Amino acid sequence: MAIPEEIINEIKYRNDIETVMAPYISLKRRGKNLVGLCPFHNEKTPSFTVYPENGSFYCFGCGVGGDVFSFVRQIENLDYIEAIKLLAERSGIALPQDGYDDSMQRLKNTIFEINRETARFYHTYLMSPEGKWALDYLTGRGLSIATIKHFGLGAAPDGWDNLIKHLKGLGYSIPDMIQANVIGKSQRGTYYDRFRKRVMFPIINIRGKVIGFSGRAMPGEDKAGGKYVNTSDTPVYKKSENLFAMNFAKNHCDERVILVEGNMDVISLHQAGFENAVAALGTSFTDEQAKLLSRYTKEIVLIMDSDAAGQKAARRAGEILGNTGLDVRVVLLPDGKDPDEYIKKHGAARFKALLDGAVSEIEYKLLTAVEGIDTGSDDGKLQYLTRAAQIIAESNDVMTRDLYIGRLSDKYGVSRTALETKVKDIQKKNLKQREKRVFDEIVRPKFDRSDINPERRLYPAGSIAEETVIAILLQHPDFLEAATERLKPENMLTSLNRRIYKAVCECIEGGRTPDLSYFGEMLSPAEMGYLASLFNSEKGDKNALIVLKDSIKVILDEGLNKKTGDTKNMSVDDWAENLQRIIESKQKGK
Ligand code: CTP
Ligand code: MN
Repeated sequence: MAIPEEIINEIKYRNDIETVMAPYISLKRRGKNLVGLCPFHNEKTPSFTVYPENGSFYCFGCGVGGDVFSFVRQIENLDYIEAIKLLAERSGIALPQDGYDDSMQRLKNTIFEINRETARFYHTYLMSPEGKWALDYLTGRGLSIATIKHFGLGAAPDGWDNLIKHLKGLGYSIPDMIQANVIGKSQRGTYYDRFRKRVMFPIINIRGKVIGFSGRAMPGEDKAGGKYVNTSDTPVYKKSENLFAMNFAKNHCDERVILVEGNMDVISLHQAGFENAVAALGTSFTDEQAKLLSRYTKEIVLIMDSDAAGQKAARRAGEILGNTGLDVRVVLLPDGKDPDEYIKKHGAARFKALLDGAVSEIEYKLLTAVEGIDTGSDDGKLQYLTRAAQIIAESNDVMTRDLYIGRLSDKYGVSRTALETKVKDIQKKNLKQREKRVFDEIVRPKFDRSDINPERRLYPAGSIAEETVIAILLQHPDFLEAATERLKPENMLTSLNRRIYKAVCECIEGGRTPDLSYFGEMLSPAEMGYLASLFNSEKGDKNALIVLKDSIKVILDEGLNKKTGDTKNMSVDDWAENLQRIIESKQKGK
């Protein structure tokens, strides 16, 4: 059910798009608009544009766009109604309680409750005499009772239906338990507890809600199901977007975050006083996790296990983090230990020293680039220096470059100028590549409008003309009659544009100025991005009325062509031929 338009307008009025975006992106003024690095895809040159004039945004790199609701919806991963509610709440506007379709929100709330009850069940069991085996294990690994309580750790009893019975007793339904992913359904159609005889780590989001679980098998018992069983993605949990212990770390990470591999590492670190430690949840580190961190901190210290897998993970995380503008430093743990073992063996003070001595990302790369190269030989030296020059060239800071060029030329006995020249050459090459990428990202959008409007390729000229008509009408509502006089919605060739054109016309006929928010409910987020790009395109800037009329002609002509042969039912060859004909007739027309 729809939320009344006046309320939407009021919420929008009180939530200025720049202010809403401020915590997530840093925007710089460019003319009357603002630009910044897009929070929805990785980029190094800003293509995310905000148009304060009409309260919309559009990214030329990935095609996201829309109004303030679309933004909140996508950045907070909400549905349309939830986004409206969130902004309403923030600006103190009361929404009528019922009447809206909030079935998704209700399901999410139920899952949150089931998760909370499940966490409570596991914790109670851990602390009970029956859970002694698990408590012994955790205390045996050096965790204090206070730490166990702080993290809400628990244990899942051995058995197939302990949790099911418990949750049933509290009145929860089997389908909801399945949605929460705490139980599973067997091929025989029976239901079972997903976590059995495991130590349980609840995963808690930054708002303090239990969103999932990670369950560790007892040593030697990890054959069935593996060492860890984790919650799969559910309506309230996406592992690629969360970090273990971020709920605690967010209050301790103004300076830096310590990123480690395992949950146990995180818990040991917190117990030893490093409450800014987090871990990726059994995935390799993702862009979304990097984005989350970059909202809270300036610097990441990566501590990966010193095995090969750990080093690979460190490199990968380093790359992803490099794109966020965060400072990244890396700690190399000596003697093959993970942070948990290290801190138990050497204590917090030594660990702190290790943190303070964390090498910069560039130093780390220079140190590890030596692997597999015999720098005793001249060949090896040259090979290493070439690699090293590439690493140095990645740095944007002239002092940093100078520092390492100096060090390496001393160490390997080559002249400073030679190394400098090498680095400069590589930089030039990189710059060329970057320029090409900028072109690809901004000038030629990477995403393809055909993804949003699949019929676009059937009407190559007509669909562009449709887009022009919609853009002009959005910007010049007073041209409504000039448009509808000749172009009825049913004349639009592609169904997406037909739907949008019809809505735009109805909106203007109803005496309103078209505004993106008017379409928020009828369009998907991707379609909103498409509309935002039309809304802000320059198509309506010059000679709009003439362009409008010309575009209508193109649509109607292609519609006639369509009648002579319905392109939808054409074979690929016929379709290609038809396309050729259209192109030729256009060329003749010029
Ligand atoms: N992990 C996983 N599934 C596995 C193995 C690991 O999800 N089969 C994830 C877990 O989140 C784990 C992290 O990867 O915390 C690191 O794995 P590992 O180093 O094996 O586990 P530790 O956390 O170090 O656990 P422990 O110290 O108890 O061995
Ligand atoms: Mn470990």
